[in-house]
Amino acid sequence: MEIKKTQILLLSALLLSSLVLKTPGKSCSEADYQFFKAKSKPVSNIDISHFTAFKKPPEPIQEGLKEKDIIHKLPGQPPVSFKQYGGYITINATVGRALYYYFTEAQDTMVAKDLPLLLWLAGGPGCSSLGIGAMQELGPFRVGSDGKTLYKNQYAWNHVANVLFLESPAGVGFSYSNTTSDFMKVGDRKTAADNYIFILNWLERFPEYKNRDFYIAGESYAGHYVPQLAHNIVYHNKKANRTIINLKGILVGNALINDETDTLGLIDYFASHALISSESSRKLHNCNFSSNAETSDECHDIVKKLKNVAGNINIYNIYYPLCLDGNLTSIPKRFSIMEFDPCTVYYVYSYLNLPVVQEAIHANVTKLYYDWQPCSEVLKHWEDRSSTVLPFIQELMENGVRVWIFSGDVDGRMPVTSTQYSIEVMNVTTLNPWHAWYRDGEVGGYVQEYRDNLTFVTVRGAGHEVPSYKPDRALSLVSNFIAGTPLPKQ
Ligand SMILES: *[C@@H]1O[C@H](CO)[C@@H](O)[C@H](O)[C@H]1NC(C)=O
Ligand SMILES: *[C@@H]1O[C@H](CO)[C@@H](O)[C@H](O)[C@H]1NC(C)=O
Ligand SMILES: *[C@@H]1O[C@H](CO)[C@@H](O)[C@H](O)[C@H]1NC(C)=O
Ligand SMILES: *[C@@H]1O[C@H](CO)[C@@H](O)[C@H](O)[C@H]1NC(C)=O
Ligand SMILES: *[C@@H]1O[C@H](CO)[C@@H](O)[C@H](O)[C@H]1NC(C)=O
Ligand SMILES: *[C@@H]1O[C@H](CO)[C@@H](O)[C@H](O)[C@H]1NC(C)=O
Ligand SMILES: *[C@@H]1O[C@H](CO)[C@@H](O)[C@H](O)[C@H]1NC(C)=O
Ligand SMILES: *[C@@H]1O[C@H](CO)[C@@H](O)[C@H](O)[C@H]1NC(C)=O
Repeated sequence: MEIKKTQILLLSALLLSSLVLKTPGKSCSEADYQFFKAKSKPVSNIDISHFTAFKKPPEPIQEGLKEKDIIHKLPGQPPVSFKQYGGYITINATVGRALYYYFTEAQDTMVAKDLPLLLWLAGGPGCSSLGIGAMQELGPFRVGSDGKTLYKNQYAWNHVANVLFLESPAGVGFSYSNTTSDFMKVGDRKTAADNYIFILNWLERFPEYKNRDFYIAGESYAGHYVPQLAHNIVYHNKKANRTIINLKGILVGNALINDETDTLGLIDYFASHALISSESSRKLHNCNFSSNAETSDECHDIVKKLKNVAGNINIYNIYYPLCLDGNLTSIPKRFSIMEFDPCTVYYVYSYLNLPVVQEAIHANVTKLYYDWQPCSEVLKHWEDRSSTVLPFIQELMENGVRVWIFSGDVDGRMPVTSTQYSIEVMNVTTLNPWHAWYRDGEVGGYVQEYRDNLTFVTVRGAGHEVPSYKPDRALSLVSNFIAGTPLPKQ
């Protein structure tokens, strides 16, 4: 079995076409970055008042469906006491579009009913929340190198919340559409609209979560999904003049936020981490990366030459080893949650494609014509992509939604400098200046708190997928985010 080539491309329309990360042997799509060459340039004028793609969401009957979704046991799973569910929510019955979810209730079944609901969205666009988020980052299990057995992740986020993983949009992971032309229509707006319909229907299926505190978290391209879905929630709550969904906060990590500053931050990160020459960096600083600007030939030229300069490194964690041998082993290798195996994606690929696993988790019930992939092979076009999500983030802050933005500081894909520059654009006022936070006697990272519900947190030594590389620090982060408490100062 081979994971098909996932093109991994760098940020921004400009770098997009020129910096392709190659991986040895069979290509490694540990990827959370599959950029589609959007036909049109990203839209820079966002009219957020029109960010609603439906008048009245459908309300299919969800009664009795919850019990059918219970996952009694994942194949190869060690015993646990919390409940797991998996299944489909129909988004549009006419075209036959359905989204797959995997839900893990809180570990401590005694307190699960008092803990909030947290939705995790993976990036891409086109990557799987189940295969990357749940199985490689913050879910309760990781897959062994035999591609069959699971072992526990003691830093799973369902220690502090009931965690819902959604494969979105249709065409990603096990989510599908019976109308393949649907795959040509996906983009930011449709994803946000479908995700909103999903949540409404999911809450009908799990009514005990209806008034529960709700948080949305995600990384990478979910920097778009998360605030856009949150915007839809705030919009519909206001329109109905009642709390339909009790959204309390959003948490985004190594996220695409604002193209122009994301690109500048990327160049500075590459330069300051000795991945490109300071000469290139100086020249690139004279380029205008605004989405409205015409990029000069000289800028194009430098970027073209950058193509191979950084070499074959793990761009998601610039000091981490590559996966050099993704072959399965008959006996699982010795593992450690604290030492992420860079070949994990191969084990997950193998596991989620096992018919016995798919049956156990109620996935692929319609026998899709393609295999499960960590990042979609069927989505090849992205209809709309806004050049910034800052207006959404500002709107959320104004509406009292807690906004935490975090960054693993050795990610070279969506680097910490990009996020810092993007936050600066918002012209926010500092409440508590930059300081270290601690976990187990060591600096876990740095934090800066701003007025009006905004917090910026770095996670020291973590790559793009923060909970993969620093699971303990990531758990501190999410615990304090949910509690609304400051990260420990010692
Ligand atoms: C389902 O999709 C079709 C085709 O895009 C659309 O015309 C219809 O309005 C959708 N139905 C609902 C209930 O959203
Ligand atoms: C898609 O088509 C299959 C086969 O006809 C059907 O069983 C399934 O319910 C359809 N999916 C949706 C969401 O309508
Ligand atoms: C919204 O609801 C509140 C009470 O829940 C009520 O006082 C207020 O008049 C309502 N506003 C509108 C515009 O209906
Ligand atoms: C970049 O280009 C945009 C659009 O043409 C323009 O508005 C902006 O002023 C330019 N920025 C700089 C620093 O030249
Ligand atoms: C991985 O498996 C392939 C095909 O079975 C084999 O050709 C290759 O040598 C293996 N790689 C390593 C490093 O063992
Ligand atoms: C779904 O099942 C079919 C038939 O078993 C298989 O060929 C296909 O790879 C599976 N697709 C996914 C997405 O799991
Ligand atoms: C969050 O923002 C709202 C609205 O600006 C404000 O009333 C509230 O005090 C803020 N909360 C915090 C913790 O800053
Ligand atoms: C930034 O905020 C300060 C203080 O709130 C304000 O005086 C200034 O005009 C703002 N600048 C911009 C560019 O919005």
